[in-house]
This record gives sequence, structure tokens and C-alpha cells, in this order.
Amino acid sequence: MNARELTDQIAAKLAAEVRRNGDIIPYIAEDGVYKTDMRQKNLSWWTNGFWAGLLWQMYHAVGVAEFKATAEKTEGWLDEAMADFTGLHHDVGFMWMLSAVADYRLTGNEKSRIRAMHAATLLAGRYNPNGRFLRAWNGDKTGWMIVDCLMNLSLLYWASDETGDPRYAEIAQNHADTALRVLLRPDGSCNHIAVLDPVTGELTGAPAGQGYAPGSSWSRGQSWAVYGFALSAKHTGETRYLEAAKRSAHYFIANAATHNWEPLVDFLAPESPELLDMSAGAIAACGLLELEKQVSVYEKKLYHDAAEHLLSAIAKKHLDLAPETDGIVLDSTADYHKDIHTRMIYADYYFVEGLLRLQGKEFFAW
Ligand code: GLY
Repeated sequence: MNARELTDQIAAKLAAEVRRNGDIIPYIAEDGVYKTDMRQKNLSWWTNGFWAGLLWQMYHAVGVAEFKATAEKTEGWLDEAMADFTGLHHDVGFMWMLSAVADYRLTGNEKSRIRAMHAATLLAGRYNPNGRFLRAWNGDKTGWMIVDCLMNLSLLYWASDETGDPRYAEIAQNHADTALRVLLRPDGSCNHIAVLDPVTGELTGAPAGQGYAPGSSWSRGQSWAVYGFALSAKHTGETRYLEAAKRSAHYFIANAATHNWEPLVDFLAPESPELLDMSAGAIAACGLLELEKQVSVYEKKLYHDAAEHLLSAIAKKHLDLAPETDGIVLDSTADYHKDIHTRMIYADYYFVEGLLRLQGKEFFAW
């Protein structure tokens, strides 16, 4: 895999995608075409920051002005989702870290800082003080917490750094500690969901989520654990999160390595059908490259090589670099039981972040 050459090809493809899709928020490219505009379908959808994030990463790496302008436009559209409030959820970190915080960090835009503070305050408002967790989703799921949410904690760490108010980071750390206790299993695999009593905080169950079944091992959830715990370790300096990231990583590496570095959607699903989720590989690769920065010199090679294997496996067989089509990474799966083998905007984002990390050219977005 030639990371530099790939980056140039992706820049050319992204420029063509921007020309075709500059006025939409893309999510899934069906048959290589972004047919659905998430602005129309669901402005509050959790993936709606990845387009801006992808554009900011590539703007930072190659400096194309249209990438910046389109990212800024997307960020502005999300204001309506913030004002609406009712559709928002635990994933506001994904939405506003990659749009508003990225913009603020790269350009110093004060309006972006305010948008991000609104998002951080909304996320903090989802905290359950008895159970010490950020509740997932809406409706009657008052005691639900999920492994994906570890990635949203960066928004709270950012808000504390930005304001000097320790409450945001304290909430993030309490959530990470609860995740350590109820989501990470002794063998390094993890539950997607844990249900706690919203009044007492007592653990009452771990139902199936986007993986195969209760007790199985959803690979994207596992990749969120690798990257999410590594980020909590980075932001807090606490070794218990570093150890958790390593345990999650070792489980991910062992399962991906024995399948040509092409992660199954669920590591514990039946042998057939053999469903892949290349987004899990891209996310885990970014987490492993973050871990590489935090471990001793003796351990760095393990994480670096595993990340390279994961990204190379995508580059070899699961990539579409043609400027005429939309979507870069092929074969991602939103949920074991639906949306199988499609092009997902978050797979593109993490593949590009990983590729840039390999070259030391990434923008630190978390
Ligand atoms: N909500 C994050 C995911 O589906 O992976």
C-alpha cells in the first residue's frame, strides 16, 4: 500500500464528490451514488458530521479550498438539528467534534466554538448521576448505555479544556469507568449495550445490539472500545483506560488477524453467512495508531503493524477510487441484521484518518 499515492487519488475523488454532492449531507452510497440527502431524511442522524470531518482532514492534508467551504456549509446546516433538539442523542460528539470543533481548531471560528459548547452541554445533560453513565438513544431507554458512546467523550474533554470547568471531563471519566465495569468483558471483548436501573444504577442486562446476538462480539463496537478507551487515556493520562484499550485491541487484533485482516461484522457469529464490516477495520486502525503513540517503544510495533494490516486489507480489495462514483470504502455493514455490505461515510472518514496518521499528516480531531 502506497499511502501517499492513495491520498492523492482520494483527494481527486473527493473533489469530484464535492462537485456532485456539495449541497447534500451524504451517508450511504447506494450502487456508488449518494441518492439520499440526510438533510432531508434525518438532519439529526449520528453520521452527519463525518462528511465535514472527511473534508477537514483532507483540507488539512492537501489544502483544497472547496473542501473547507463545503465543511463549513455542512456545519451551518446542523444548527437546525441543534435548535430542534428532540432528535438529538448521545452521538452529538461525532456530529459536532468533526464539524464545529474541527473548524474551531483549524480556523479559530468563534461561532464554531459556541456550537460545540451547545453540543457538549447537551451531552452532559444526558448524564445519569446514580448510574454514572451517559444514556444512549431516546424514548423509554432511560437506563441504556452503549460502547459507541466512548467516542463521544472527546467532546466533553474538549469542553473542560476549553472552559476550565472540570465537570464535563468528570462526567466523561465516570462514563468511561462505568463502561470499563459493565461493557468490557474479562477476555477483552465487549457488550454493545448495558442496561442499568436509571434510579439505582444497578446493572440489569446486556441485550443484543447491532451484533449477532446477546453475548456475541460486534466488531465495530469492539473498534469503538479500542479507539474510545485510547482517547480517554490520552485525555486523562489514566493507565486504567490505556490497559482497557490494550485489552480491547488484543481481542480485535487476534480476531482480525485470523480472517485476513478483514473483520467479520461479529467475531462470534455463525460461520455462515460470512459478513464483513470494513468500517470496523478502519476505526480500529485509527485506535491502534493512537495507542501506538501512548505505549512503550517495545510495544509500538505490534499496534502499528496491525493498523497497517487493517488499512492494507481495505486498500487491496475494498476500495473504489474512481472519481465518477461516490463512496471510497466498500463492504461496511451498519448492523449484523441489516444494511449489509454498503459504502458508509464513516468508513471513508476513518480510512482517510488512518491513511493520514500513517504519514503523520492527520488533523487530530478527537
Ligand atoms: N452509532 C454508532 C455505530 O453504529 O457504530
